[in-house]
Amino acid sequence: MEVRLARKMGFCFGVERAIQAAEETLARGGEIFSLGEIIHNRQVVERLAAKGLNVAHDPESVEGTVLIRSHGEGPDTLDQLTRRGVEIVDATCVLVKRAQGIVARLHEEGYRVVVIGQASHPEVRGVCGYAPDVICVDAPEDLDQLPLGGKLGIICQTTHSVKHFGDMVGLIVARGYAEVKVVNTLCNEVKDRQTAAVELAREVDVMFVLGGKQSANTRELARLCGEAGVPTHHLEDWGQFRPEMAHGKAVAGITAGASTPQWVVAEFADNLRRFQPDQQ
Ligand code: F3S
Repeated sequence: MEVRLARKMGFCFGVERAIQAAEETLARGGEIFSLGEIIHNRQVVERLAAKGLNVAHDPESVEGTVLIRSHGEGPDTLDQLTRRGVEIVDATCVLVKRAQGIVARLHEEGYRVVVIGQASHPEVRGVCGYAPDVICVDAPEDLDQLPLGGKLGIICQTTHSVKHFGDMVGLIVARGYAEVKVVNTLCNEVKDRQTAAVELAREVDVMFVLGGKQSANTRELARLCGEAGVPTHHLEDWGQFRPEMAHGKAVAGITAGASTPQWVVAEFADNLRRFQPDQQ
């Protein structure tokens, strides 16, 4: 079938840097842990595990060297690691570091900090640690947690869409606060991939969005493509493809999240080009 690729997709500079930091640290030898999986991609995690990168979920269980992934960590976790005397290799994405710094600064300036993001996402959990009493909201029904007055300082999870950020800020402002300071912490790498994915979705019969099921930016790409009105499948790789997904379709589009390696996309595209939907 005909296959078209999004003009922008796959690894972002933050993920590339984290993988490079892992490779360089592994090359030195010794015991190395990443705190949580280094990126939300099973294939990459397995490849680095084979080279000796251990995954730990508790800072108290790491020894030797610990790699902080691109999502970053909160100050409490970093303090805990420092107290344990482990070597820290910090691969926090510069854009996540910026968001962490903005949370601290908004608090110093007297704002009650509001983070628009998924409370359970590792980036958001970390960012919320940089000021006391940060409120995390991600849907209209969460807004009842907000105080009734005072000054609000708002930022957003880096991987959210412009539309979601704008919608949530609009709803917060409508509640009538005298002062609201909004700082744009969205990631342009994500925004560019979202724009390219929606453009492509409008010109194909079916979209395949490749990336880990845990990857927030991949899930958001799939949501936006679905919202554009095209049947959309979020898959990790070609192994999850089923013929019925392409049945009756002539043109397929492919995009991929910021933690999806190029070879996963290339393999999927090659197989899909050879696939003949009408003969299934
Ligand atoms: Fe950083 Fe954006 Fe990637 S925040 S980790 S460059 S998706």
